[in-house]
Amino acid sequence: MRAVDLIRKKRDSGEHTREEITYLVNGYTNGEIPDYQMAAWLMAVWLRGLSYAEIGALTEVMLHSGEVAVKKVDKHSTGGVGDKTSLILAPVVAAGGLAVPMISGRGLGHTGGTLDKLEAIPGFNTALTLADFRRVLRECGMSLIGQTVEIAPADKKIYALRDATSTVENIGLICASIMSKKLAEGIDALVLDVKTGSGAFMEKEEDAVRLAEIMVDTARRMGKKCVALLTDMDQPLGRMAGHANEVLESIEVLKGGGPADLRELSLELSAWMFYLGERSASVEEGWDLATEMIASGEALERFRECIRLQGGDARVIDDTSLLPTAKNRVEVASRRAGYLIRTHCRNLGIALAMLGGGREKKEDQIDHGVGLEFHKRIGDRVETGEKLVTIRYNSDEKLAEARELIGSGFSIGSEAPQARPLVRRVIGG
Ligand code: URA
Repeated sequence: MRAVDLIRKKRDSGEHTREEITYLVNGYTNGEIPDYQMAAWLMAVWLRGLSYAEIGALTEVMLHSGEVAVKKVDKHSTGGVGDKTSLILAPVVAAGGLAVPMISGRGLGHTGGTLDKLEAIPGFNTALTLADFRRVLRECGMSLIGQTVEIAPADKKIYALRDATSTVENIGLICASIMSKKLAEGIDALVLDVKTGSGAFMEKEEDAVRLAEIMVDTARRMGKKCVALLTDMDQPLGRMAGHANEVLESIEVLKGGGPADLRELSLELSAWMFYLGERSASVEEGWDLATEMIASGEALERFRECIRLQGGDARVIDDTSLLPTAKNRVEVASRRAGYLIRTHCRNLGIALAMLGGGREKKEDQIDHGVGLEFHKRIGDRVETGEKLVTIRYNSDEKLAEARELIGSGFSIGSEAPQARPLVRRVIGG
């Protein structure tokens, strides 16, 4: 390609291809095309004009002629039991080249909160100042904090109050709570994980769809790219619930292992984040990039770096015994044989909270070491006396009640139910 030919083409009212525009702009920027040729081309443009396609190409090539501010993307879940994808996808997406400024919440009702989970890592500080939050984000591409006096202070106060007054399950309150803190981060795009099923705030699918549509619409009216994935919360996500347990399981996934459902949902959400953040041309490409970030170990290193920068003991990555563990354990076994057809997922979350893994009053302290390990998934065959759950606990004050709730949280039938997809649908995709 030669600049002189492109000048002639425009002089004679021709339309440039994207490659021609790339050649001209890059050639001029790096000094290979001299001023006099670029000036001649500019005058030809002035006289003959540019088509829409040429303007689009010119804008894009000029935009990418130097440093491009990294796009900021985030994900937020409406909450569930064992829902720990933030701990996995934040490092995956940061390692893949996008910035993830995540303002998260604490446990709400029967659901766990990202901040409480992170605080299971000794020393991890989720209350950074805004300046430190930005510094960590700059240094490792991700940072996770709670609402602060500077960012979404109204949600900080109202969120805690809703938890203690049973006023969580309301579409308007959930939408305002989630979107206020997410939009305050200055993000470009947002992926929402809207849970539906027995462990979700919106148990009925139609309510979850309505919440998803309202949130997507709110984000778009504020100029942000947004999609919502409607995902299954009819059973806990992964095998573990409880704070230290969930950090441990997230590290397993970042090391390339972990349970299939947790891995699949984390990759799917990451893929959408890459796509909306314009890091991949399609969701499928985003999925490949996310897979690569885990396989190469880059996502794990990103998590290690973030823990270190936020004051946590990063040795937990290699030695998960440094995480707190409750001193006692007991099993809950199945009272009959058959197939697991349903879990009363909310009751499992409530039982965990009773054991100290949640708050009854907003000033209650969380016991990060308590947890539940689930041994069966919906559709699995179960024999009488076979273990369903391992409970880790410290105090037996409410153990009998929690055990009863867990035991009655599993329905066993004679036929295996039909498998249901983890991602039920995508809204706004
Ligand atoms: N997550 C939030 O941040 N707020 C809610 O109201 C529910 C889930």
